[in-house]
Amino acid sequence: MGAGIAECLAISGYEVVVRSRSPQTAEALLAGLEKSIDKQIAKGSLESSRKEEILSRCSATCDLAELSEVDIVIESVIEELETKRHLFNELDRVCGDQTILATNTSTLPVVEIAMATGRPERVCGMHFFNPAVRMPLVEIVRPITASDAIIEEVKNFAESCGKTPVVVPDRAGFIVNALLFPYLNNAVRLLEQGVATRDDIDLAMKGGCGFPMGPFALLDLIGLDTSLAILDTLYNEYKDPNYSPAPLLRRMVAAEMLGRKTHKGFYDYHDSHARS
Ligand SMILES: NC(=O)c1ccc[n+]([C@@H]2O[C@H](COP(=O)([O-])OP(=O)(O)OC[C@H]3O[C@@H](n4cnc5c(N)ncnc54)[C@H](O)[C@@H]3O)[C@@H](O)[C@H]2O)c1
Repeated sequence: MGAGIAECLAISGYEVVVRSRSPQTAEALLAGLEKSIDKQIAKGSLESSRKEEILSRCSATCDLAELSEVDIVIESVIEELETKRHLFNELDRVCGDQTILATNTSTLPVVEIAMATGRPERVCGMHFFNPAVRMPLVEIVRPITASDAIIEEVKNFAESCGKTPVVVPDRAGFIVNALLFPYLNNAVRLLEQGVATRDDIDLAMKGGCGFPMGPFALLDLIGLDTSLAILDTLYNEYKDPNYSPAPLLRRMVAAEMLGRKTHKGFYDYHDSHARS
């Protein structure tokens, strides 16, 4: 998600610093960004003449201190509350008072991330969708600690990136994942119960509901580890059985079958057979 968000902002004309924990992964993020721009050019959705100009606005670092002067940080690390709280605490120390700190969390309580900083009024969620370059929605998550002015500023910023912002309350799942994940979870249960095959379920939901991809292709795209973390948070908050993760999902994560990112999930991506 980090590389996709960076690409989206750079295409919109913003200077972007991509920060990762090692120089190698920071450079790999930039390489991924360039590959994605090449793909867009090949598909005709981006002018080839724009490539150099877009890339010239992007730089990579492994040093958090290089973010000290930025207007906004959009954090997109692993979906773990303690990891995000630790990072926001560090960001609060290195970033100037003017910096807005936003998280791309899918479900975690943004207020708890905000309270790890000394500037909770300048912290909110900016929930992009996958792939960030193509999906128009950004959920602007408003914790009870955020100021009206910051929410307005972040909403305007999302619009300036060509996105459709929707301000949502800070409750697990916000709007989209609160509705999407019972559907994805129940698709795994249908498969577990032997009601239908993976291919028939994906085919049925594409053909019957007009969805661009079926639930298993979507779970592989999101990542099964991220999906499990989302369901665990939703279940902990609401205790609704629809959010209780299907056992197969947990077993697949234990087996490191995480979807596209490990080349194996509900589908196998070792060959070039892309699912959509
Ligand atoms: N996958 C999606 O479809 C999607 C959509 C919207 C939002 N999100 C959210 O975006 C965030 C990232 O998800 P992703 O799908 O890109 O996951 P990912 O597994 O692809 O990437 C996670 C990144 O976090 C880094 N990381 C892991 N542990 C870390 C640590 N202790 N400290 C710092 N960095 C660490 C990893 O190196 C990796 O670069 C999550 O909060 C997720 O909920 C994901």
